[in-house]
Amino acid sequence: MKRAKITVVGAGFVGSTAAHWAAAKELGDVVLLDINEGAAKGKALDLFEASPVEQFDSRVKGTADYKDTANSDVVIITAGLPRKPGMSRDELLAVNSKIVRECTEGIVKYSPQAVLIIVSNPLDAMAYVAMKTSGFPRNRVLGMAGVLDTARFRSFIAEALDVSVKDVQAIVLGGHGDTMVPMPRHCSVGGVPITEMMPKDQLDKLIQRTRDGGAEIVNLLKTGSAYYAPSAAAVQMAEAIIKDQKRILPCAVHLDGEYGVKGLFIGVLAKLGASGLEKVIEIKLNEEEQTHLNKSISAVKELVGALKL
Ligand code: LAC
Repeated sequence: MKRAKITVVGAGFVGSTAAHWAAAKELGDVVLLDINEGAAKGKALDLFEASPVEQFDSRVKGTADYKDTANSDVVIITAGLPRKPGMSRDELLAVNSKIVRECTEGIVKYSPQAVLIIVSNPLDAMAYVAMKTSGFPRNRVLGMAGVLDTARFRSFIAEALDVSVKDVQAIVLGGHGDTMVPMPRHCSVGGVPITEMMPKDQLDKLIQRTRDGGAEIVNLLKTGSAYYAPSAAAVQMAEAIIKDQKRILPCAVHLDGEYGVKGLFIGVLAKLGASGLEKVIEIKLNEEEQTHLNKSISAVKELVGALKL
């Protein structure tokens, strides 16, 4: 079988940690690209030199030249500035949209068949920038947010109930912002609805902590935002695509009529396989969920409107 090629754009904390997870899982050969050539080359070389110790067979190459990314199967775009304490993801709009546009242009030139996974913030708007810039069909442009947001929700639930994270299932819909929509009705522990396992007020607290999950880390780190969980989440999506796993994961997808939305990236449940997005799974919402989702859709619409693309 031909080895897959994964490019990670941006050798900051999210990018270099994504390269680490991808290489350690032997998803394929990894290219780490950054305009800071030394950082890309240094981190890639360091990671490659860990491979005999950790016993993973992945070549890792650092570069500042898009030529080296040619024929990538999956490209994870993490480039952009992170939040500082007190900042919302939305405040990064202007500066990061320029960065994401430039990175997408470089990638598309050499990997016209790649599946793009966007991680840069504000996520739903940056995925939109990548979609418009690339001209790719929607199955090949995805935003990473839902896997991260549900991972946070699942961790908090597992900790509160003292059960394995592996047995906690959850869904988060909507944008990757303060209006995200955790779905308690679809959350379960070992198949049992969470609403039967935990009182409502406790669950509500965990839902709020999930919504504030990114900010909680920003406030602790003070100089940047989360990177272990965001990068792991992006690599899980990459793995589903590279291995054609047909996994059902919450991702930001360019909607084409689902939930009554057309032409915006919104977090929904998606099936990921070899062709990227293979299906959007539209779930029936009750009135309360629909109200929350509508609010989230409006927030994303406003953000994308401010892009002036
Ligand atoms: C977070 C950033 C990556 O949620 O959006 O941590």
